[in-house]
Amino acid sequence: MTYENILTELRGNGPLRTGLVTLHRPKQLNALNDTLMDELGAALKAFDADDTVGCIVITGSEKAFAAGADIGAMAKWGYMDVYKSDYITRNWETIRSIRKPVIAAVAGFALGGGCELAMMCDIVIAADTAKFGQPEIKLGIIPGAGGTQRLPRAVGKAKAMDLVLTGRMMDAAEAERAGLVSRVVPAAELLDVAFAAAQNICEFSGPSVMMAKECVNRAYESPLSEGVTFERRVFHSLFATEDQKEGMDAFVAKRKPAFKQR
Ligand code: HXC
Repeated sequence: MTYENILTELRGNGPLRTGLVTLHRPKQLNALNDTLMDELGAALKAFDADDTVGCIVITGSEKAFAAGADIGAMAKWGYMDVYKSDYITRNWETIRSIRKPVIAAVAGFALGGGCELAMMCDIVIAADTAKFGQPEIKLGIIPGAGGTQRLPRAVGKAKAMDLVLTGRMMDAAEAERAGLVSRVVPAAELLDVAFAAAQNICEFSGPSVMMAKECVNRAYESPLSEGVTFERRVFHSLFATEDQKEGMDAFVAKRKPAFKQR
């Protein structure tokens, strides 16, 4: 499939491969427009439906993961345009619906919608060049794709308020300390580290990977008692899988497990 504003490819040669999406509007620092977001939604759905794909990586360029929504396009919009068409954000629910793990490999700017996109991913691996921020306040608006909601959950109210109200950027080290980022690596190693993590995930049992993701996401959306009950039910259900037998038999026999369920 050929896209206009993203590039896609499959990496790896195991039974399960990694689907890579590269945001590709280099002149605009990968500013998010409707074409890019529609293409991203389509590519993620295609990888999610592909039984040979076990994990997905989203990345940008060395200079920018994404510098936010396209300000040139937004400058012309009025209320009814944004309300009726749900521009830019209309694929956010698609991203949320992806069942396989999605890793953001972030170098350079991840601002506004770019930071919000990274926060939609399950694991954020940052290059030491990464810079995160929600600078919408400087444009007379506020974050519109979860920035005021996911950022406090990730980094706490104090830092979220600081970032959203001042529009300042934080570097990769601060983002890691604050809990926004899973790991920080040298820029030259970013994609290798992201692919190694993805390949690692590809080797596990598909149902346990998808259910683990579902359970961690539940932690954000339900009270502790309900989340724990949900986790317990899912945990029990995994004892109905062949891969649970394989994983545990392999441990007891001191051999590498060969998971089959994708
Ligand atoms: C459109 C953008 C852009 C954006 C950069 N560009 N960000 N175009 N939308 N968000 C374009 C510039 O206009 C410029 O094009 C080229 O990319 C390079 O940018 P420069 O500014 O020359 O680069 P630099 O000096 O290195 O500064 C980089 C930057 C700055 C700090 C990232 O570009 C910047 O502040 N961008 C805006 C960031 C922002 O406010 N994001 C939030 C947007 S609102 P030309 O043609 O001049 O070379 C948002 C709301 C989300 O995201 C709502 C829901 C999704």
